[in-house]
Amino acid sequence: MVSSRRNTTASLFLWTGLLLFAGLSLEPLLRMPASLFLYHPILMVGTMIFITEGIALLQAPTLPASAHKQRKTWHGYFQAIGLIVIEAGFTAIYVTKDRNNKPHFSTIHGQLGVMCVMWFTAQAIFGSILAYFPRLVGNISQKKQYWNWHRQGGYVLLGLMWITSQTGVRSTSMLALQRDPILINFHWLALGLVSLGLLLPSTL
Ligand code: HEM
Repeated sequence: MVSSRRNTTASLFLWTGLLLFAGLSLEPLLRMPASLFLYHPILMVGTMIFITEGIALLQAPTLPASAHKQRKTWHGYFQAIGLIVIEAGFTAIYVTKDRNNKPHFSTIHGQLGVMCVMWFTAQAIFGSILAYFPRLVGNISQKKQYWNWHRQGGYVLLGLMWITSQTGVRSTSMLALQRDPILINFHWLALGLVSLGLLLPSTL
């Protein structure tokens, strides 16, 4: 089990934000007929939950080394699931567009999205090499430097993925399904809560 020393206020903010984001993103889909397309938003919302929590669980500041090691293992599991889910979500939209003879990567969302999929894949491969095949990457100081890159790259990628998700929920077809256009603004609240959930542990 993951030891529970993470700040509870931060967790509360994070999970309220994640659930609000999931609800706001998925509710409009209830007004859509079943199709392969539906898997895309559903799986991408799942990815966002896995990768965000997978990073947040590493943020407990006062953990003993053994507990931190355990957290890193869980981080790996969460990101591995996130990777499988993002590849499936990408396949769902790619095949949908192919079947409908629509051009690929023709919107900002699609362009940012394909960048996220490639970056996430590279990030996961790099992290796995550092964790499981450290001999491939040189001496201890090089390894430290590479872990730093992985950590900083991960935060930048997480930000890019949240931006991409927001362009997705605001894409023309999703906006057309909104019950009330006002509701889209609640995404700002969700983003604020998720940001607080991630930023609070580093300020405590
Ligand atoms: C980080 C998460 C996400 C990634 C990486 C992503 C990735 C992509 C990619 C690569 C495409 C273009 C595929 C192609 O042109 O062949 C696309 C399209 C689309 N996505 Fe996402 N997506 C994400 C989240 C979302 C969310 C949360 C929604 C809605 C709730 C959404 C809705 C759509 C829609 C409606 C399209 C078709 C229109 C367009 O190409 O802009 N996506 N997505």
